[in-house]
Amino acid sequence: MTRTVLVTATNYSRLCSEGKALLEANGCRVIENDFGRPMTFQELSDRVGDADAVVAGVDTWNDDVFAIAPRLKVISRFGVGVDNIDVEAARARNIKVTNAAGGNANAVAELTIGLIISAMRGIPELHASTRKGAWDRFVGEELIGRTVGILGFGNIAQKIAKKLKGFEVKVLAYDKFPNAEAANALGVELVDADTVLTQSDIVCTMLPSLPETRQFMNADRFAMMKDGAYFINTARGALVDETALKSALDTGKLRGAAIDVYEREPTDATNPLFQAAGLVTTPHTAAETYETYSSIGVLTAQAVIDALEGREPRNLL
Ligand SMILES: NC(=O)c1ccc[n+]([C@@H]2O[C@H](COP(=O)([O-])OP(=O)(O)OC[C@H]3O[C@@H](n4cnc5c(N)ncnc54)[C@H](O)[C@@H]3O)[C@@H](O)[C@H]2O)c1
Repeated sequence: MTRTVLVTATNYSRLCSEGKALLEANGCRVIENDFGRPMTFQELSDRVGDADAVVAGVDTWNDDVFAIAPRLKVISRFGVGVDNIDVEAARARNIKVTNAAGGNANAVAELTIGLIISAMRGIPELHASTRKGAWDRFVGEELIGRTVGILGFGNIAQKIAKKLKGFEVKVLAYDKFPNAEAANALGVELVDADTVLTQSDIVCTMLPSLPETRQFMNADRFAMMKDGAYFINTARGALVDETALKSALDTGKLRGAAIDVYEREPTDATNPLFQAAGLVTTPHTAAETYETYSSIGVLTAQAVIDALEGREPRNLL
């Protein structure tokens, strides 16, 4: 029996040929997202009626969509964060939800390191001014000997800590459910959130986006940070009050910040945050590597096949 898999993650044919081939070899017809962006409710409702499974990007998957998807058995999230999926509503309708935990951790960790150095050395400004023919040799700062604090010590944070070892920094981490074994193995000191904020020269957020972590980084917490520190967010925009971040940059409390994720995505040039000095920005691109697309393409396809064939898929939430 042919089953229909709706893929709303973008670039599927181009970058996930192995995952697509795996689905097709297992009797699945693949319907792709041709819009190159998250699909709207209307676009989903035009396609979801026949879908047995979904490989989901960051479109909104809530009970309104489930109500018009009578065949849907599994949503395999093409990524880690499931804040765009109402997991409880899915469970109530016997729709399994999986994610690709760990599948993009290396890519996000590498971009995070890149953003730390970009912010500390002003690489984007140097690039822009050099290309304009200027010879502005701005003076930056080094990472060696600094303290890097990570809020959240899960998959990605642990990879960041591992990569940071070579930079000869001290790493602090805060986690509600701390993994002491991983921290010991990586030479990371587990501390409370206030200690991360007050002791670190660079603070990275690696928390999940949950109601309890919404705007975790607010004006009070930016005020607790060291003067002249740097702030990096490659996790989720909802973790940060952007107005408070802008103010921390404008007043010089923070020397720099780098962010990949925004309160509202896609963001645009009118975002007041972009007026702040010392800000490095990327468009939610931390996981966007060929390697990630390939591995998550296979991982999500296998989860769909397992769920449709009655086996327990990996990373079932
Ligand atoms: N920018 C991107 O493209 C991109 C890509 C992948 C993941 N992410 C985001 O990065 C973040 C980290 O992802 P991960 O794969 O490492 O997740 P993870 O689940 O492995 O780690 C999250 C950690 O946070 C801890 N935690 C949960 N609730 C907490 C709370 N209230 N207070 C303190 N700690 C808490 C957990 O114990 C866990 O160790 C997530 O927000 C994810 O959505 C971003």
